[in-house]
Amino acid sequence: MSPSAGGRATSAPIMGRDAEPTLFELSAPGRRAASFRTTGVPEWTPAELVPGEHLRGDPAPIAEVSERDLVAHFTRLSHRQYSVDLGAYPLGSCTMKYNPKLCDDAASLPGLTDVHPAAPAPLTQGWMELLAQLEEALCRITGMHAATLQPPAGAAGELTGLLLMRAWHEEHGNPRRKVVIPDSAHGTNPASVTLGGYETVTVPSDRRGLVDVAALRERLDDDVAGIMLTNPNTLGLFEEDIAEIAAAVHEVGGLLYYDGANLNAILGVTRPGDMGFDIVHMNLHKTFAVPHGGGGPGAGPVAVSERLAPYLPGPRPVVGDDGAYRWETPPKSIGRVHSWHGNALALARAYSYILANGGDGLRRVAEAAVLNANWLRTRLRGIYDLPYDRPAMHEFVASTSTLKKGKGLRALDVAKRLLEEGFHAPTVYFPLIVDEALMIEPTETESLQTLEALGDALERIAGGDAEDARHAPRTTPVRRVDEARAARQLIPTWDARE
Ligand SMILES: Cc1ncc(COP(=O)(O)O)c(C=O)c1O
Repeated sequence: MSPSAGGRATSAPIMGRDAEPTLFELSAPGRRAASFRTTGVPEWTPAELVPGEHLRGDPAPIAEVSERDLVAHFTRLSHRQYSVDLGAYPLGSCTMKYNPKLCDDAASLPGLTDVHPAAPAPLTQGWMELLAQLEEALCRITGMHAATLQPPAGAAGELTGLLLMRAWHEEHGNPRRKVVIPDSAHGTNPASVTLGGYETVTVPSDRRGLVDVAALRERLDDDVAGIMLTNPNTLGLFEEDIAEIAAAVHEVGGLLYYDGANLNAILGVTRPGDMGFDIVHMNLHKTFAVPHGGGGPGAGPVAVSERLAPYLPGPRPVVGDDGAYRWETPPKSIGRVHSWHGNALALARAYSYILANGGDGLRRVAEAAVLNANWLRTRLRGIYDLPYDRPAMHEFVASTSTLKKGKGLRALDVAKRLLEEGFHAPTVYFPLIVDEALMIEPTETESLQTLEALGDALERIAGGDAEDARHAPRTTPVRRVDEARAARQLIPTWDARE
């Protein structure tokens, strides 16, 4: 691409201010000579660099687009997109919150971006210190002893945690077969259990929406390797009986796994380690302002109690008596779970977010997340069903069950109508134990004005015409698609004009 209006390549220097090209110069179409110059380095022509028989005779027939048209194309595309930078994204459980630009700036520092992961430890001391301090900060936040930063997502953290659980039991000569999961759990939990080589045992939720402790006790025996819990759970409710649950699982020799996807609800308020958990994964791409969507890349570090630290993946950055960092693999390590050191720049973003907020700031994050969710929950009372209408944590679950019976308004229709109102949709039909579920997580980053506008929009939709809502969205670049058909008969196409 050339910066000239007509889009034709010219011989004008494209870098440097002088008429003299400072770095390199493109040839005019049809001319073979192009010179490559590097400050202070001898000048070569292509013929000197590449054997003659491999040199092109004519310029490559590459489509040329002017800079102006290209910018317009991408700007148009960006306007068709909805993002956390544009507005509220109340996608429950996914924690799609605004990511401060400060964290982008920090992770873009050349001292971080220009380092090859294979560079030897003496040349990467700064990076190693950052990673070691992030591990330490995450351990302090969760109340755990040691951590690995390698897993690239929450689900990868879950699998890592289950492999740690397995290694622990096997080392103690007591391999077990079952892992208990509540019926409100995220789908990745049972999937990870299966991948980890275990069998899932489901424990029901009680009328409060919490783990039914009596039912849990019935399921606990010496074949249970552990339990996976999300706390607050996917209904946005804190497991009030967590101390009793932890004691019961530990009594049969099981371990407690904490799914930390909802960690933003408890930052600086309470810690999984203090609740009795042995293994914790964190979704840095939810709680710690790392962007996510479209499958990643994220970061799902796993922190563990002291007795599980020897099994962590390696290598980990360790500081010696001389103050120098070196890579060390724990003695009974389950091995690597990711190449190099995980998604390092996502880790740097999270580290900058933790430093920028500090301990007090992180607590305020949780407080604002909980306040916003409860403000919106009470705003929607009497408009939507609230099957568990009591103080929630950072998210809550509403339902259109009554609206469906009364006028046929389904959760899906509400979600699609909300797009026309200029908001992203909440999570729908999850958790599975709530009929016509709308799982709403406003996050701490939204203002009161935004929450009011979101509440008003949800009220308008509930009071509006259900038949009309069935045709939504009409104002978005893509209208309603038959999602079941699209999933079953996927026809991937690419249109160059789009
Ligand atoms: C409760 C819960 N657990 C686990 C996960 C999996 O995390 P990830 O999407 O990073 O793999 C999610 C993701 O939304 C979640 O909400």
